[in-house]
Amino acid sequence: MVHQPLDLDNFQEQIHLIEDRADGVSGLIVVHSQVLGPAAGGCRLWGYSDHAAMQCDASRLARGMTYKNALAGLPFGGGKAVLQMPAGTFDRAAMFRALGDAVESLGGAYITAEDVGTSIADMRSVAERTGYVAGLDARSGLAGGDPSPWTALGVTEAMQAAIAFAGEGRLKGKRVALQGAGNVGAAIATLLSAAGATLLVADVDRARAQRVAGTCGGTVVDPQTILLADVDIVVPCALGGILDEAIVEKMRARLVCGAANNQLASPFIAEMLRDRGILYAPDYVVNAGGIINVAAEYLGEGTTEVRDRMAQIPDRLTAILEAARNEGLSTVAIADRQARSIIAQAWARAA
Ligand code: NAI
Repeated sequence: MVHQPLDLDNFQEQIHLIEDRADGVSGLIVVHSQVLGPAAGGCRLWGYSDHAAMQCDASRLARGMTYKNALAGLPFGGGKAVLQMPAGTFDRAAMFRALGDAVESLGGAYITAEDVGTSIADMRSVAERTGYVAGLDARSGLAGGDPSPWTALGVTEAMQAAIAFAGEGRLKGKRVALQGAGNVGAAIATLLSAAGATLLVADVDRARAQRVAGTCGGTVVDPQTILLADVDIVVPCALGGILDEAIVEKMRARLVCGAANNQLASPFIAEMLRDRGILYAPDYVVNAGGIINVAAEYLGEGTTEVRDRMAQIPDRLTAILEAARNEGLSTVAIADRQARSIIAQAWARAA
């Protein structure tokens, strides 16, 4: 087979099945690209409808990590692990030890960390079996710990930049619809509320939405309608594929800027958002804070390096918004082009 590491939309380097019948573990690891370095990306634990859905999610997430890591200036390629949430009770530590064995078997091609449904405790179990893991407890003076607050900070600062780009002042007084009140969503809510924004909060887990709304003086709304709320900004912090034709046609917000990976149901939606005059902050550009922290931890760096890389997120977004406006392209087309160019240059240097 011809090795085509630069055909980033149609090619992934490796798919590794994780099957541990004894412990009921089923999942996979996708290594999308190692052109810039080992493939880094978190592990998602989710109740997929079937294997095809799991594989599709893993592939899209891994590709997104390639682009995210490239644009964030990290020496890592892109990859992702996904695990099927077992029905009923299960031995969680055994599941993550099995993931650790699978990661170890790839010999450093893939480095794992947290994503939706996984935690520092899970990564501790992974670390019992492999060193190719981050998102562990922070050691004194070094980067580490839960990546979610960093993701939240990057998204919020990018949001400020997008508002300034649009000539809409600051976050103070803006009405924001937050979809997903989990680790990142809750942290974003705190930052937005401190900045003087008014929050509508929705989560399929209503108790979470209530908790976050209670802390931030927000209002809980129905998850079915949150994306269509009469607000200035929509902040997706749940799962992917939520912006489809039907939603974008009726959206009232003028800006979408959130942490969720793969927010667009299809690439065409980026054009639709542009045509409707809705500013879209590409997810993998603004949600890089978590992987920036994870990468620094893995590389043995401190929080200074994390803050330096984080500080570039708003400027990177502004440059993308400007190029999109000047060239009449979608923000996604510009961001993808920039990421591909970084990877192509690295490939040319290595050749
Ligand atoms: P989480 O699992 O802590 O929170 C996700 C929340 O979304 C949960 O409370 C869940 O109940 C809710 N949810 C699921 N479907 C929903 C729906 N249809 N409507 C409303 N709420 C819904 O996950 P986390 O870590 O907060 O991540 C959120 C998103 O950000 C994910 O897409 C993740 O891949 C992405 N992300 C997270 C990073 C991190 O540092 N944790 C880094 C970069 C991206």
